[in-house]
This record gives sequence, C-alpha cells and structure tokens, in this order.
Amino acid sequence: MAFPIKKVCCIGAGYVGGPSMSVMAYKCPEIVFNVVDKNKNRIEAWNSEDVNNIPIYEPGLSDLIIKCRDKNLFFSDEIDKNIAEADMIFISVNTPTKLTGLGAGKAIDLKWIESCARQIAKYANGHTIVVEKSTLPVKTAQAIKSILDIENKKDINDNYCYKTFSILSNPEFLAEGTAIDDLLCPDRILIGGEDASSIELLKGIYLKWVDSKKILTTDIWSSELSKLIANAFLAQRISSINSVSALCESTEANIIDVAKAVGMDSRIGEYFLSSGPGFGGSCFKKDILNLVYICNHYGLKEVANYWEKVIDINNWQQNRIVSIIVNKLYGTISDKKIAILGFAFKANTNDTRESPAINICKKLLEEGCNLNIYDPKVSLEQIDNDLHNESIFYLNKFNKEKTWQVSKSIVESVIGTDAIIILTDWSEFYNLDFKDITERMRSPYWIFDTRNVVNISEAIKYGMKVWKIGNGNLD
Ligand code: NAD
Ligand code: UGA
Repeated sequence: MAFPIKKVCCIGAGYVGGPSMSVMAYKCPEIVFNVVDKNKNRIEAWNSEDVNNIPIYEPGLSDLIIKCRDKNLFFSDEIDKNIAEADMIFISVNTPTKLTGLGAGKAIDLKWIESCARQIAKYANGHTIVVEKSTLPVKTAQAIKSILDIENKKDINDNYCYKTFSILSNPEFLAEGTAIDDLLCPDRILIGGEDASSIELLKGIYLKWVDSKKILTTDIWSSELSKLIANAFLAQRISSINSVSALCESTEANIIDVAKAVGMDSRIGEYFLSSGPGFGGSCFKKDILNLVYICNHYGLKEVANYWEKVIDINNWQQNRIVSIIVNKLYGTISDKKIAILGFAFKANTNDTRESPAINICKKLLEEGCNLNIYDPKVSLEQIDNDLHNESIFYLNKFNKEKTWQVSKSIVESVIGTDAIIILTDWSEFYNLDFKDITERMRSPYWIFDTRNVVNISEAIKYGMKVWKIGNGNLD
C-alpha cells in the first residue's frame, strides 16, 4: 500500500522545525518535506552549500542535511505554495511570552500562531491535517480550529470553495544539544486529537522508526497540557537542586555527593540534578509563566504561586552568584577584567535565548568591570546583540564604548584578568591548562565555576583561588 501522506510542510525553520523535519525526512524517504519560514536569511542559511553555515549548531544535524537536502528535504520561503501542496502541515513557529497588553509577562503571544492559521486557511487545498508542534497554551487548538473554520470558505481568488481540516497536537520534547538523538530515540511521542484517521496518518510517520509502545494518543487538551507540565517538572528539579547548592555552600556539604545520593533513589532518578547558574533556554521560563497564567485564569492562585517559585529561585540563583563574585573580588569589580567562559545556555548549542550568561554578564557590567567573553559556538554578533543595553551605555557615558570583548580562544580571554567565570559546561572547559592560564592572569587568580567542571586540585596546584557552585571556597 502506498504511503498516504506524500507532502509535508513545516512552518518555522527554527530549532524545532529544522532538526525535527530533517529526522523525519531521513526516516521517511518516500515523503517530501518542505520547511518554510518568513525569515529569508534563515532559509538562505539552511540552503548554504557549506553545511557548517546552517543556522543551528546541533551535533549530527549537518550529516542529515547532507543526506536529505534537495532530495526529499527542502528549505524555502515560498510559504503559500508549500501550504497549498501539503497533505499535512506542522506549525513550528515561535510562541514567546507576551510583552504588552493583557497577560503581559506571562501569557503566550499567539500572534505567530494566528498568522499561520490564517495563511493555512487561505492557501490550503482539499483536506489538510494541521499539527501543532509549537508549545501552546491549553486549548489553543480550539482557537486555530475556529480561525480555519471562519476563513476557509473562500479560495485565494475569493471564490467559495470546500476545504476541510483536522487538528492534532504533537508537542516536541527534544532538548537542544541532543536534538538529533532525542528525535531518533524519543522517550515518547505524544499525539492529541479527535480524528482517528488523522492520528493514524501521523502515527504512521513515527512508526517508521519509533516503537508503537512509545506512541501515546490522547485528547488535544491533555496533550497540550502535558508538554507544559513536562517542562515545569524538569525546571522544578533544577530550582530544587539549585536551592540545595546554596545550603551546601553554607554547611560544607558537597552538592555532587548529595545529588548522587538523592538521584540513586530509583523513584527520583539521576537526571536534572546538576546545580548551575539557573536554567536558560527559550522554553522553561516562558512555559512556566504560561502555566502560572493559566492557573490564575482558572482561579487556582496557590497552584500558580507554587510554580512561580521555580522562576523566583532561578533568578535568585543568578543574582546570588553575581554577589558572591563581587564580594570575593574585595567588594568591587570596577575597572577589573574578568574572563567569561561560555555564553550559550548549555553546551553543544549556539542558542543564547534566556542564557544565564546574559543576565550575569549584564549585572557584572553594571558593576563597572570589563569582560572578555569566549564561547566556542556563539557568534560575536549574537553576544553583542544580547548584551546591548541602554543602561550599560549610560553607565559608560564618558567614553560610550562597550566594556566587553569577544575572544577567539580561552587563552586570549584570560589575558590580564583577575577572575574567570565558567557559565556553560562546554567540554573544553573541563581540562583547563592552569599553568598557562595563571601566567596570563593577574593575581589573585580567581576561578568561579558555576557548572562544576573544574579540576580543582589542578587549579589549586597553580595557585588559583576556586569557588565552585554547591561547594563554595575551595582554595
Ligand atoms: P525559533 O524561533 O527557533 O523558530 C521559529 C521560526 O518560525 C522562526 O524562524 C520564525 O521566523 C518562523 N515564523 C514565525 N511565524 C511565521 C510565519 N507566520 N510564517 C513562517 N515562518 C514563521 O523557535 P523554536 O525554538 O524552533 O521553537 C518553536 C516552538 O517549539 C516553540 O513553541 C517552542 O516552545 C517549541 N519547542 C522548542 C524547543 C527548543 O528546544 N527550542 C523544544 C521543544 C519545543
Ligand atoms: C528543555 C527540555 O529538556 C526539553 O524536553 C523540551 O523539549 C525543551 O526544553 C523545550 O520545550 O524547549 P532545552 O531547554 O533545550 O530542553 O535544554 P535542557 O537540557 O532542558 O536545559 C535547560 C537548561 O537547564 C539549561 O540552561 C541547562 O544548563 C539547565 N540544566 C539542565 C541545569 O542547570 N541542570 C540540569 O541538571 C539540567
């Protein structure tokens, strides 16, 4: 029997759309996947001849692009045409927190989702399965459905026509840095929907490489809510262990040992118990804020307050790290040079969205210091963009110059610095050459390790003063 889905369109060529469609294209060579985006530069980058220039750094992704691009995987800015030709459309656009108006600061801004729904209503043909891959507030499918129902009566020439849609929720659980492995070996695939035949067609795609026992089906709203709750639980574990990191520092317990002992309880499990500078990434904060908004909407104030604390602890962890650094450097970092190792929100990604490094660097800059920033994958433009902020320029009104530089290597970043701060767990920070580093720094050679990656005995051997998250002073 021929596979019934022949053409898939994915709207949104971002961190989810790009990798997830690459894996699907690799596993389903008989289906054509068209990934479309309104951002022409992003599409151009996806089509660059040199796969090192694709817009997302994700281990394993470039191999898939080489195998599938221009065979059954295409990146295009021709959105209307690809919508019109598709049997199934994934919506994988950004869903950030609303900045103004009702629900500002908490609710999700659905303007990109709404504009997709309107485009689909206008250009789709015949029967189309619309799949929500973006993370959405509970009951968004209802809003999409009503837009499709209202708008779908006319074709692009304003003639009355007949189109039908079924809507599915299929949230994505990949984590950046491990996206390809997560997509190839998912813990589960979740499909929410009402229309059994559409569910079977989507299931048919995943069954090409995922065991049927791992494919869960449910109603749309339970599916939408499960995604928010999964992220909230993961973030909650990080805030829990980060709160314990402060207690360990005060009591001289060792956070690594505590996390190990706690995580070996099979009911708790070992993952997401690494303390650090707080969680970053584009989703945890916005998804929890959205959960808080939904709980308040339903009058569940205690539940909303409970989840909001996860965010409060995350902010508190970043602020307390800054205070510790300033205090250790004799209470002032004004005009001092500090090296920042790592700017991405985690290792193995070039993504800096909500990276703890942004907040921590801004706070340090506000104290008047100079930063040398090194990250192996984040571009100079991205760092400049993230740190550009009126208040910093205001503080430096005399010379109007930015007080951070982006370095090309660890060696370059540490020259003349009083301190090194490790903010991302890149593997190259695990074995720093402290002999070479101390020769380039200015005493008293501080290293602040917010990711528990430093070889302490090696650092101390060369006269460094070490502060480590969840341990405190180790010199
Ligand atoms: P992203 O910002 O990297 O990509 C979204 C893309 O959609 C952008 O390139 C934007 O130009 C495009 N876009 C927006 N509106 C459009 C329109 N009307 N037509 C065409 N293109 C349009 O976002 P992302 O990180 O890929 O996240 C997408 C969704 O997936 C979000 O809802 C997010 O919560 C969810 N999610 C993200 C991750 C992750 O690790 N990043 C993981 C799971 C789920
Ligand atoms: C997270 C979830 O892990 C994915 O399942 C989900 O699909 C995704 O959000 C999403 O919806 O966007 P991601 O943000 O890419 O994925 O990365 P994580 O590995 O979850 O890390 C998030 C942040 O928490 C990073 O800043 C990381 O350094 C931090 N973290 C993680 C810790 O501080 N400690 C840990 O033990 C784990």
